[in-house]
Amino acid sequence: MAEPRTLPSPLDRLRLPVVAAPMFLVSNPDLVVACCKAGVVGSFPALNLRTTEDLDGWLSTIEERLEPDDAPYAVNLIVHGSNARVRDDLAILGRHRVPIVITSLGAVTEVVEAVHSWGGIVLHDVTNERHARKAAAAGVDGLILVSAGAGGHAGTISPFALMAEVRDWFDGLILLAGALSTGADVLAARAMGADLAYLGTRFIATAEAGASEGYKDMLVEAGSGDIVHTPSVSTIPANFLRASLEAAGYDLSAVPGSVDLAHLTDPTEAHAKAWRDVWSAGHGVAAITDVPPVADLVDRLEAEYDAALARLVAPVAE
Ligand SMILES: Cc1cc2nc3c(=O)[nH]c(=O)nc-3n(C[C@H](O)[C@H](O)[C@H](O)COP(=O)(O)O)c2cc1C
Repeated sequence: MAEPRTLPSPLDRLRLPVVAAPMFLVSNPDLVVACCKAGVVGSFPALNLRTTEDLDGWLSTIEERLEPDDAPYAVNLIVHGSNARVRDDLAILGRHRVPIVITSLGAVTEVVEAVHSWGGIVLHDVTNERHARKAAAAGVDGLILVSAGAGGHAGTISPFALMAEVRDWFDGLILLAGALSTGADVLAARAMGADLAYLGTRFIATAEAGASEGYKDMLVEAGSGDIVHTPSVSTIPANFLRASLEAAGYDLSAVPGSVDLAHLTDPTEAHAKAWRDVWSAGHGVAAITDVPPVADLVDRLEAEYDAALARLVAPVAE
């Protein structure tokens, strides 16, 4: 069994050093619970629910289905002026004593103190060193380095560069994100100095994920050249599956492949369809060939992790 480096509570009971990342419209209670039962962190964005009351309902459902030995779960909170629910959602997370809160956009000391007050930890996602320093100053317990090739609002910096810049001065937990899809990738992230690997796209292609069959099939079919990085769908640059952009009416005739910041012609009503009909994925689609149940995927990730480790430590043949 793959032994993760000793991690602080509540991450000390993971089977593999893996967090299944929060994904808008994709993460649901079935996915979260399946991940936690398989021994990795399951998570979802609070904004997957329309109201704070609905968030309360999902948290109750998840807690009822989890047992004490299962891995902890996490909730993603967008801390930004555009999210009018932050305070109310945070209060509900406090009532449920959510063990891990993943903050995005704003790293705010008051939020960190609130989460610490109920014994939770805060992980904050960043795409560059400047934001990493701001988040560290706000007192977060861990930084999620979202590097080039990630699904969603991907970064543009190489994971090697970002790791080197942040690990140099940050003593807290580091999670690495961006196109990690296999157990060998998880080991590689650890070898680079990350404590945990943060996998999004790989978990969309699972039986439990709340994505349509068409979306899951497209992940299996796609290669890294089918991912287009563009600000044209959701204002902030994000990675999307080329075939889903085309199906939504975007003109990709001038976009040869997975180019940086493709500016696309906006078809009528395309904004209304972002994330729901225009599907996000990262370069990690390159390693996705099937849609297994989460339990089977985590078994496989562990086997791949162990095999990669064995290859590295095996005596060199004469
Ligand atoms: C469909 C999709 C939706 C996402 N939604 C969110 C979100 O709501 N909040 C967030 O913090 N990150 C979101 N992300 C980013 C992921 O949490 C994670 O950083 C990313 O998927 C990691 O890269 P990978 O997909 O290459 O593994 C999303 C990613 C995808 C693919």
